[in-house]
Amino acid sequence: MSVILITGATDGIGREVAKKLASEGYDLVIHGRSELKLNKLADEIKERTGKDVFLLKGDLSAFSDLDKMIKTVKETFKNIDWLLNNAATFEPQRKIVDRGFEKTFMVNYIAPFYLTISLLKEGVDIRYILNVSSMAHASSIDFQDLQLEKGYDGYKAYSLSKLYITLFTYYLAERLKGKAYVNCLHPGVINTKLLINNWGAIGSSVEEGAKNVINTIKYIEENNVTGMYFDNGKPSRSKPITYDRELQRRLWEETLRLVEIEESELNF
Ligand SMILES: NC(=O)c1ccc[n+]([C@@H]2O[C@H](COP(=O)([O-])OP(=O)(O)OC[C@H]3O[C@@H](n4cnc5c(N)ncnc54)[C@H](OP(=O)(O)O)[C@@H]3O)[C@@H](O)[C@H]2O)c1
Repeated sequence: MSVILITGATDGIGREVAKKLASEGYDLVIHGRSELKLNKLADEIKERTGKDVFLLKGDLSAFSDLDKMIKTVKETFKNIDWLLNNAATFEPQRKIVDRGFEKTFMVNYIAPFYLTISLLKEGVDIRYILNVSSMAHASSIDFQDLQLEKGYDGYKAYSLSKLYITLFTYYLAERLKGKAYVNCLHPGVINTKLLINNWGAIGSSVEEGAKNVINTIKYIEENNVTGMYFDNGKPSRSKPITYDRELQRRLWEETLRLVEIEESELNF
């Protein structure tokens, strides 16, 4: 059976995907920052399916937590079938977290970048990487102001973080061609706390969001595609800027510098 690591599995879309995939027989590694919420989900899954799940606790705005998560995964699993980088935040006010990073930038982009690259660097074999982007991804990038130091707006920070993770997806997909399948998706407009608190309850149910993610997973497993963007469970196209190879490469290099990983340390 396939092992799937889901970040941000304690609420919203991630939580529903975890429950559904557990029922389908996947072995789950569920990540969250709250022990209480992790235990609650684990109990619910056990009750429904009889299955035990592996709990991975960590705050994605702290490198110390990310490093602990990476160590635990490395020591427990030689390979994982799926890494679903799903966790994200929306920050109405600019907040600074670990190493001076702006919080949205850190949680939504730096954390999945660092987690993915570090696991690969540490020799954990990952067959499928699926990054949760959004149809709200931005259509321009300013390398002089990646973290909105010049003027912060929560919506702009969120949409930029989704542009960065989309550019990262396509760069990594090329880089891992023949070794792993790397894709991203927009899950639909879904009534989760992230949507309701910042845009209002204008979306569909979490069941619908989970269905879109799971349909994407099935499509990728059946067709072994890479470097693709999925919208509401179907192959689609992200904004033209995301396909710019030069921007993808520039952002990759800049991000490696920010997370203090040398290109020469990477064996892939
Ligand atoms: N909902 C939509 O309409 C929509 C549309 C496009 C894209 N998306 C994307 O879909 C994904 C899932 O979002 P959602 O709508 O399901 O939101 P959600 O219900 O707020 O769930 C977000 C998950 O991320 C976790 N998380 C947030 N900050 C964290 C941190 N610092 N450290 C560790 N975990 C953290 C949350 O943990 P807690 O349980 O502790 O809060 C939760 O498990 C996100 O990538 C989002 O950007 C959503």
